[in-house]
Amino acid sequence: MARQQTAVATGGGREIAPATGKLGVMLVGLGAVSTTFIAGVENVRRGRSLPIGSLSQMATIRLGKRTEKRAPKIKEFVALADLKDLVFAAWDPIPDDAYAAAVKAGVLDRHEHLDPIKDFLQSIKPLPAAFDQYYVKRLQGTNVKRGKTKRELAEQLREDMRNFRKSEGLDRLVVVWCASTEVFLTPGPAHQSLQSFEKAMDQNDQSIAPSMLYAYAALMENVPFANGAPNLTVDLPVMERLAEERHVPIGGKDFKTGQTMMKSVLAPAFKARMLGLSGWYSTNILGNRDGEVLDDPESFKTKEESKLGLLEHILQPDLYPELYGKVYHKVRINYYPPRGDNKEGWDNIDIFGWLGYPMQIKVDFLCRDSILAAPIVLDLALFFDLAARAGLSGIQEWLSFYFKSPQFAAGLYAEHDLFIQHTKLKNTLRWMMGEEQITHLGVEYYEYADR
Ligand SMILES: NC(=O)c1ccc[n+]([C@@H]2O[C@H](COP(=O)([O-])OP(=O)(O)OC[C@H]3O[C@@H](n4cnc5c(N)ncnc54)[C@H](O)[C@@H]3O)[C@@H](O)[C@H]2O)c1
Repeated sequence: MARQQTAVATGGGREIAPATGKLGVMLVGLGAVSTTFIAGVENVRRGRSLPIGSLSQMATIRLGKRTEKRAPKIKEFVALADLKDLVFAAWDPIPDDAYAAAVKAGVLDRHEHLDPIKDFLQSIKPLPAAFDQYYVKRLQGTNVKRGKTKRELAEQLREDMRNFRKSEGLDRLVVVWCASTEVFLTPGPAHQSLQSFEKAMDQNDQSIAPSMLYAYAALMENVPFANGAPNLTVDLPVMERLAEERHVPIGGKDFKTGQTMMKSVLAPAFKARMLGLSGWYSTNILGNRDGEVLDDPESFKTKEESKLGLLEHILQPDLYPELYGKVYHKVRINYYPPRGDNKEGWDNIDIFGWLGYPMQIKVDFLCRDSILAAPIVLDLALFFDLAARAGLSGIQEWLSFYFKSPQFAAGLYAEHDLFIQHTKLKNTLRWMMGEEQITHLGVEYYEYADR
């Protein structure tokens, strides 16, 4: 109660509608990431586990000067939906309920984290998906929508959203794309305006991928949309304009979890110390369904583009040609079933220092993909809902922290450095709440500041 009152009193910040009532979280895809997220939230709600990895649940935010010692938890500082108010739904072409899908994904321990909440998970059955194998070659699904045109499918998705709102008595809704990576596409004439997009849907144009139908449907229903995969989806002129016009927050692309997260930590460190880089070879072995989908060269190309982009942006070779002008950057993903969701990501990094002497760094990250992704889904659902209640629309650049290839406004470039993204996120929360920005200048703590 106190939490919401604090949040509504903006103290010069933005007016933020309270987080009252239920928040529906609609997930596109009910695979490893989605089920790990849903089962995780339910375990946390029942007091059986901690939401580790989630800023919205665990992080604090410093306010004012260091001497003030004010550092509330983020969820006490801004009005976020409470976990108990989240209601889940999902679409998937594979008809397994959330329990069966979670068991198949093999991420969470069945006895410890799935069986105790089996009834709850079994009650989440996937809605028929807008799916077309042309865009995800390695999947076959039976739980799919039928329609003569892509527009008809989009209308069915809109109806799903309205029905979910109504049947669960929801106050608000967000959509997060946690479905497979689609084949590589580039923006074309169909993606430029609402008129051309709707015409292309009517004509079943191949440049309209299923993910775009979900994005269009969400925006038409005024529902925020976050894209966890590297597909274009909301990263299109038509979607950006639609989001602005309808005052809906959007964002993507591709959850920043394992190897790329480490890259966005290490590369800024090299640049900060003016150490050179000659090569960065990254390879992964991964055996889950995502790995299988990415084994298809066309889906891999979409992922590859997303993983490759950040080094150049972080290192700025145009400004530092002697240090970063000739970087050989390679990324591989190898499907290797025995590992399941427990990916292994190797990085070999060739750097050079004083007078050009070479050095090497090896990183071997034995991570769990969906364990890293689940808290990101939670934070995105809660922060996109916050953005909507705070009247923010269009691209939410302050949430770049969560994405491998963050969307940005025309004329800008993406900010990839994890710690700049982190500062941006927290400063945006301070700005929303009318609190001072933290610049880390700090001269005010020293005597000479008065002279
Ligand atoms: N886990 C991570 O660390 C991580 C990081 C970044 C991005 N991602 C992306 O998140 C997505 C989900 O990963 P995952 O491990 O859960 O994969 P997964 O294969 O276990 O689950 C994806 C699900 O999406 C479904 N699907 C495919 N097309 C669909 C459509 N058109 N509509 C509805 N459902 C559809 C599939 O049937 C599948 O059940 C992938 O695109 C992956 O690349 C994951």
